[in-house]
Amino acid sequence: MPDNNIKHVASPLASQTLLDGQLTRPVASVKPIRLLPWLQVVKIGGRSIMDRGPEAILPIVDEIRKILPEHRLLILTGAGIRARHLYGVGLDLGLPVGSLAPLAASEAGQNGHILASLLAPEGVSYIEHPTIASQLAIHLCAARAVVGSAFPPYHHHEFPGARIPPHRADTGAFLLADALGAAGLTIVEDVDGVYTADPKGAGGDKAQFLPEARAADLAKAEGTLPFDRALLEVMATARHIERVQVVNGLVPGRLTAALRGEHVGTIVHTGAHPA
Ligand SMILES: Nc1ncnc2c1ncn2[C@@H]1O[C@H](COP(=O)(O)OP(=O)(O)O)[C@@H](O)[C@H]1O
Ligand SMILES: [Mg+2]
Repeated sequence: MPDNNIKHVASPLASQTLLDGQLTRPVASVKPIRLLPWLQVVKIGGRSIMDRGPEAILPIVDEIRKILPEHRLLILTGAGIRARHLYGVGLDLGLPVGSLAPLAASEAGQNGHILASLLAPEGVSYIEHPTIASQLAIHLCAARAVVGSAFPPYHHHEFPGARIPPHRADTGAFLLADALGAAGLTIVEDVDGVYTADPKGAGGDKAQFLPEARAADLAKAEGTLPFDRALLEVMATARHIERVQVVNGLVPGRLTAALRGEHVGTIVHTGAHPA
């Protein structure tokens, strides 16, 4: 006998497998809302900027300070030389990728603390991942910017395909920017943008600068990039962020110009389409 007190909750996904795209598409294909459409996300390179110390960091801090009245920023820092040292020691000891990922992520956090300390007089502070996940809006109502770690928190869940964690700061920054439906993502490096080959590597003088590139085309080409290769994978399925600009943070004014929508580096077009 059915119990009349049971409340049946109707769900369009209740009676179907989530693996069947035909059935889930009508419900799941709706474009997600933009949580923070006014947010600009800025990823600051660990090796390219933070490792250079005051000479590179102080001008960026100055630029960020001056641009705060114009934008509300989530500044995310990457890892640099200390993570590389940790990878080296850990790999020599045979540590799995899931043990190396949180070690590298901890350096990204350290760099974030450094940057946040320098911006503290402006009301900027470092916030941890759980705070970014649940209280970013209130923090950005209290301050024009906050700093966090760009590393995604895969940690012990890092995918085991490679020994060096594939999902690093660029991937993490992009995943956050796309999930938040941010207005833009700018990746700050020590080169003018993306070239056909590493401009500082062997034969770098022949490398050509790419003012614009499609993520799908970069994914097909072999060779190095100034960002994680996994970034191209997540760009392919992006929902909101249609383009990312890679800029040279060692040239004063480039970050400011990029945040104002000017084309001053390499614009990488993702797989996201306008609504
Ligand atoms: N195709 C490329 N275009 C531009 N830079 C590249 C490319 N391939 C490699 N690089 C190098 O990547 C460097 C940035 O290193 P990266 O590890 O991304 O630093 P960060 O940790 O700061 O993000 C640049 O200084 C440049 O020498
Ligand atoms: Mg980089």
